[in-house]
Amino acid sequence: MCGIFAYIGDRQAAALLVTALKRLEYRGYDSAGIGIQGGPLKVRKKVGKVSNLEEDVSKAGDQVSGTCGIAHTRWATHGKPSDVNSHPHTTADSSVAVVHNGVIENHQALKKQLASKGYTFVSQTDTELLAHLVKDLKGQMESANWTQVVATALRLCEGAYGVAFIFEDEPDLIIGARKGSPLILGVGEGEHMLASDASAIVEHTKDVVYLREGEIVEVRRSSFKVMEMTAVVKKLAQQESPRRPDVENPIVRLELSLEQIEKGGFKHFMLKEIMDQPNAMRNALRGRIYQPVDAAPDVWEIKLGGLEKAKERAVDGRSPLERMAHASRLIIAACGTSWHSALIAKCAFEKLAGVPTEVEYASEFRYRKPLICQSDCLIAISQSGETADTLEAIKMAKQYKALTIGIVNVVGSSIARETDAGMYLHAGPEIGVASTKAFTCQVIAVLLMALRLGKQLGTLSEEMLHTYCAALSAVPDSIEEWLKSLTEQTRVISKYFRLATNALFSGVGIHFPVALEGALKLKEISYIHAEGFPAAEIRHGGITLIRNFVPVICIAMRHDPAYEQTKQVVSDFRAKDAAVVVITDQGNRDFDQVAQFVVQCPETKLELQPLISCVPLQLLSYYIADMRGCSIDQPRNLAKSVTVE
Ligand code: F6R
Repeated sequence: MCGIFAYIGDRQAAALLVTALKRLEYRGYDSAGIGIQGGPLKVRKKVGKVSNLEEDVSKAGDQVSGTCGIAHTRWATHGKPSDVNSHPHTTADSSVAVVHNGVIENHQALKKQLASKGYTFVSQTDTELLAHLVKDLKGQMESANWTQVVATALRLCEGAYGVAFIFEDEPDLIIGARKGSPLILGVGEGEHMLASDASAIVEHTKDVVYLREGEIVEVRRSSFKVMEMTAVVKKLAQQESPRRPDVENPIVRLELSLEQIEKGGFKHFMLKEIMDQPNAMRNALRGRIYQPVDAAPDVWEIKLGGLEKAKERAVDGRSPLERMAHASRLIIAACGTSWHSALIAKCAFEKLAGVPTEVEYASEFRYRKPLICQSDCLIAISQSGETADTLEAIKMAKQYKALTIGIVNVVGSSIARETDAGMYLHAGPEIGVASTKAFTCQVIAVLLMALRLGKQLGTLSEEMLHTYCAALSAVPDSIEEWLKSLTEQTRVISKYFRLATNALFSGVGIHFPVALEGALKLKEISYIHAEGFPAAEIRHGGITLIRNFVPVICIAMRHDPAYEQTKQVVSDFRAKDAAVVVITDQGNRDFDQVAQFVVQCPETKLELQPLISCVPLQLLSYYIADMRGCSIDQPRNLAKSVTVE
């Protein structure tokens, strides 16, 4: 995933573009570049972090003056990170420049055609061909304007793109277009911006237009025009168009503040986001569980507007919630951390609502031609709402007319738009590449769904529902209080383990996904090899990895149905000289003699414990990575969301 920003107005663009790239850097950080329209197009690009580009741009001074420009921060997919492979890419005469997020799948065929006409390519990227293709078509389509030319060029491209173009001969024009990659237009006073992510726009304006799939936008200083690419091309060919090219996309208000996307005194976004979890969870719960004013003190209500109120999406008079409740099965598709919340969801849906649930890696699901029927319900879980494989899983389910539900953090994202109904996480922007607060809010969302389904299907008595709701609403406060001492405790443990080369995580039942998540967090930000196991399963192979000083982090809660077996496994680890950390519940002294460290969690119900037990694992990863001097918010090779297939 890369980040795109473009600006047109009356302010100097270069500094604005660089600031925007810093906001977008979490989306990709191999290299960065800007292109400025100021008569001839001027391009500066640098491999490495945006700070390298910033230095270069400040040295360039007046050479990059101009009030219209495009910018890009790259996560390499085609061609290694280098100055030459960085965006923007231009034509040989620098008359067209383009930035691109996504992949042009048929780039080789298109490049070959252009090469046969004498075009030469200086980079190994798929993007460079877009500049040449547009230039070539402009030569052939003399009477066409740039919008028509770009739409025609993009119709020849297979794959996914969010793009922004500038042109030497058009000082008041940026063209943006999207297919499979997000693009948002910021509407200011006498100025406009385009960005792949609202975080780059919010300091300029809160009024935005979300471009829809297949749309192209002509952006000028004082106006903009959104059109459908297909209709633009058809109109050009004077063919019958299904609709007018111009479309009316509403201007919406961003619910995002600058404060939310800044570090606010924390050393890293990841730490800020871990500490922000109580608030994020409160936001995820707000308005969804509550105590009705006139009811008895222990009575709770649960309401999921996105599933219950979506009457306009009702089929056969049934709301999405009713269809979910009577689905032949729930299939949850997700990737990475979101896949771990899906595993927790399976435990909760089956136990609390009695609905058969399958969990799929979206990337596996989409390629193995799964059996899907109309009575299935596919739930997609995604922080970004842009993960290509998850999006594709939804499209497949829709082909079979199955109901699709999204559990998504980013408002207006592709998955939110593509699904029939769903729930937003309301976790706020997550900038650290390693997911933390989005994970806990995903777990909140799936627990709420499980409880609501349990109520709908009568698998949960009113009394049980009230108990769960009361326990759920108490979780954010418990974590907030606990964090006051937990940070210091996890820092001490981290110091002990900071030089480890391997680590194992174990947990049973609903804690197994938490063990997987703990292992993922540790490996992605500290580069220590880590694996998660169901506690007893480790005896079937993984145990060979245990030797002196290998950290084994075990989640062992007294409510666990397999608690006694887990205790035995922990003793086995200790007997093999592992360095054991036990995450357990309040007041449990069972591990005092076997574990090097015991972390006691605040009490809650078993199904809600993942919300709590994951927090010390996040902090352990964070502090260990920090002590090892790792690039925590931007781990090597990793992007915040994988929009390529
Ligand atoms: C890990 C992490 C990734 C994402 C995965 C899916 O910390 O963030 O594993 O969970 O790439 O991304 P989303 O949830 O945006 O679909």
